[in-house]
Amino acid sequence: MRFDIITLFPEMVQSCFAEGVVGRALQRGDIALKCVNPRDFTSDVHRTVDDTLYGGGSGMLMKAEPLASAVSAVERASRSRVIYLSPQGQPLNQAKVRELAELEQLILVCGRYEGVDQRFIDHYVDEEISIGDYVISGGELAASVVIDSVARCIPGVIGQVQSVTEDSFFEGLLDAPHYTRPAEFEAEAVPAVLSGGHHEHIEQWREEQSLRRTWHKRPDLLEKTVLSTRQRTMLRKIMREDWQQRGMPGANVSIALIHYPVYNKRHEVITTSVTNMDLHDISRTVRTFELTNYFVVTPVKSQHELMGRITRHWTEGYGSTYNPDRKEAFDRMQFVHSLEDVREHFRKRGQRLVITATSANPKWTNTTYPHLSRMMDQDRETQHLILFGTGWGLTDEIMEAADYVLPPIDGNGEYNHLSVRSAAAITLDRVFRRYP
Ligand SMILES: C[S@@+](CC[C@H](N)C(=O)[O-])C[C@H]1O[C@@H](n2cnc3c(N)ncnc32)[C@H](O)[C@@H]1O
Repeated sequence: MRFDIITLFPEMVQSCFAEGVVGRALQRGDIALKCVNPRDFTSDVHRTVDDTLYGGGSGMLMKAEPLASAVSAVERASRSRVIYLSPQGQPLNQAKVRELAELEQLILVCGRYEGVDQRFIDHYVDEEISIGDYVISGGELAASVVIDSVARCIPGVIGQVQSVTEDSFFEGLLDAPHYTRPAEFEAEAVPAVLSGGHHEHIEQWREEQSLRRTWHKRPDLLEKTVLSTRQRTMLRKIMREDWQQRGMPGANVSIALIHYPVYNKRHEVITTSVTNMDLHDISRTVRTFELTNYFVVTPVKSQHELMGRITRHWTEGYGSTYNPDRKEAFDRMQFVHSLEDVREHFRKRGQRLVITATSANPKWTNTTYPHLSRMMDQDRETQHLILFGTGWGLTDEIMEAADYVLPPIDGNGEYNHLSVRSAAAITLDRVFRRYP
């Protein structure tokens, strides 16, 4: 593998690899590194590589011509790629590192100042890569990160292939914790399994630790990783243990389906009818996400009688023995006459209540799904109620009184008429999505 670095500061990159495993691989000739300075491709006496911005603005920009000439001067291997290190590029991760390690040559372009002329990127760059969502003052450190991470994957650079494949991210998970002598440090002993010598037990322990760490420190990685059935079972066990200590997620969350007051299509305040499907489907969603209550709100007496008949069939009648799972879902549902009744339910128990409304209209939005999710997770004492409207949606009065309003669930086009059952399921999935 060859690394050609286009940089105004060659020593910065070279000094990174004067030592260490990658430095030794360079000395052995397992990999090659060469720097090309765009200043050597200027034609004026001052060897100018930067200029002011068209359209004004502070700072200078790297000119396109010296960069283009520098890239063109590099002898190209057949499988080679020109990469511009940029905070606007795709974030570097282990999957990308492995992909790059399959190539024969990487030409890494390091920006400085405000970056580089867009036309150089348009005409000479195959790909932009970022090392993270922050800005550093030049591409040299970023290029060094790419070189080091890619070089480690090249056979021969690291002594044992296994130590690379067991690193964090290689299989999408974080690495297990490691220990070395002494056997005890600050009164903490090395986990017994590691000194027991039982290879299979050690492997199993490491796999479990790797899942546990990923779940605690980087749950987002679990969403992007395909776990084996064994790993999934292990992870569910770890999650359950955690939740037994901290409380089930969702245990402080309830939802309410509002049939009054809601709008009709003429923006008149009306009462909608209860539907059998909303009772079944939303209670099943509520049960699946382990929420505490599903309040169905309507002031109409005959609707309460209807809901009572339907519910009794599934909780006491033939349905309860034919399908006990449905009974379990229906048990979380209760019928109330007004939103005030729901508030009273929590008041009576001395519980603080935060109300979050949902709407297809973006004008009310004042929170995000992750923000609501964090609030629910961090304070398990406060109860959260998520409101779903029927008809043409919750009235302005309800929206104004809500503590928070979630963004609408947008599809890909202009059509926005999801059933409330679908909206409830999607909303809960978004709120609880950190749990794989
Ligand atoms: C000060 S930055 C320019 C930032 C540019 N104005 C912007 O906001 O996108 C100068 C150079 O540092 C490098 N750089 C800065 N942050 C980086 C990051 N997160 N990943 C990769 N390269 C980065 C790029 O080569 C960039 O051209």
